[in-house]
Amino acid sequence: MDKSEKFALGLSGLLLITFFVAILYASVAKNIQVPTCITDVEPFTTDTLFQVGEDEYELHMIARMWAFQPSTVTLPAGSTLHMYVTSQDIIHGFKIENKNVNLMAVPNSINYMSVTFDEPGEYFFACHEFCGAAHHAMAGRIHITEDDEVEATGGDL
Ligand code: CUA
Repeated sequence: MDKSEKFALGLSGLLLITFFVAILYASVAKNIQVPTCITDVEPFTTDTLFQVGEDEYELHMIARMWAFQPSTVTLPAGSTLHMYVTSQDIIHGFKIENKNVNLMAVPNSINYMSVTFDEPGEYFFACHEFCGAAHHAMAGRIHITEDDEVEATGGDL
């Protein structure tokens, strides 16, 4: 084997190990999750928000032209939100400002991600996939409060 071939082979191996260690570091030390496509949840046609544990809530979110349903979610600070997102028409995006949440809302498919809101405040979310005339207006907010209010409203047809 040529010297440069050996070098290229060694370098590729080293890169693979580096990437693997980076993935391990992200998932174990940084607790970074990758958005997941869910196959064991029945497709839903109505939005819901319900409690699944202490400080844990499950949200079924529907995206469609041109609104999110619900468009306003209110939760107490410290809540972990398990989000299941789908679309009723075409592909939309779902990104929460200042949070590491960036999902696609895909028809006939459910994407999942969970996020914890430690600080009270307004967390805006918006569609980030161009979906037509009112794409720019497709947005909502997650309102994190100091009290125990839990509510999901807005975006109804
Ligand atoms: Cu929905 Cu852009």
